Amino acid sequence: MKNVLVIGSTGQIGSELTMKLRHTYPSGNIVAGYIKGAEPKGELLESGPSMEVDITNAQQIADAVKKYDIDTIYNLAALLSAVAENKPLLAWKIGIGGLMNTLEVARELKCAVFTPSSIGSFGPNAPKDGTPQDTIQQPRTMYGVTKVSGELLSNYYALKFGVDTRSVRFPGLISYVTPPGGGTTDYAVDIYYAAVRGERFKCPIAKDTFMDMMYMPDALRAAIEIMEADPEKLVHRNSFNIASMSFDPEIIYQKIKQYVPEFEMDYEVDPLRQAIADSWPNRLDDTCARLEWGWKPEYDLDAMTRDMLEKLRIKFAK
Ligand code: SER
Repeated sequence: MKNVLVIGSTGQIGSELTMKLRHTYPSGNIVAGYIKGAEPKGELLESGPSMEVDITNAQQIADAVKKYDIDTIYNLAALLSAVAENKPLLAWKIGIGGLMNTLEVARELKCAVFTPSSIGSFGPNAPKDGTPQDTIQQPRTMYGVTKVSGELLSNYYALKFGVDTRSVRFPGLISYVTPPGGGTTDYAVDIYYAAVRGERFKCPIAKDTFMDMMYMPDALRAAIEIMEADPEKLVHRNSFNIASMSFDPEIIYQKIKQYVPEFEMDYEVDPLRQAIADSWPNRLDDTCARLEWGWKPEYDLDAMTRDMLEKLRIKFAK
């Protein structure tokens, strides 16, 4: 990897991944692709090139790839699960139409492509605990439908045209730089914001609902390590289960309370998000990622909680 285009560079993952790629590959062009209305600002804008790249516009993707001699595309454009339920056509247009545009440009101009999949690519028919790498994927959400289709399409382009597509199935991602928007796992981000602001938290997900979660630094490392992995060792491509922690709202609440004893939470369950969460796995088995490319998370719930609280306190003190 040397010259990289990040599509969706101002989103929750993109805003941090672009900066990490710029630090990791200081001599390369790491291009922050954005859409109108979500332009990069501050350090993201000032530390490297940026360009308007709307994933639904294949010409814009091709122009960026040619201009900066791009060898790897990170395709991070997507609607998250709860939003996608309300805007299914747009979710398909971005998730699959956009991926098709990206893969076609990658085929013609010879780029590798990373497109994240998700715990949402599984549905209620998959084993809930220790969900295997290869199992039934029959999601009941539009988000999941686009993710499974994206995995299949990416594998097809690898097999048929030799495009180097690779990816991981991300758990809910917890971070303090850019908030997520409209996901089912967002509560596990919002809860930290409430704790640091001294607010009572209304949890939209019910007690005993377990989902895989991951701290952003581990997720960023996974996104880079999979693209740098030795291809000889990869049996799978799209997409690898990765995991680091699984908890329900009560467990994360109690953990935060250890550090913020006055913090209070009650439940106001959102039926849409709850139905989505109920259809997802409790905990993925990430053995294949560990064996094939050495995946290993660094943060557990305690380490993440200490870091989130510290970083958010600094953020709000500014
Ligand atoms: N964080 C995503 C969502 O909740 C899951 O991959 O939509």
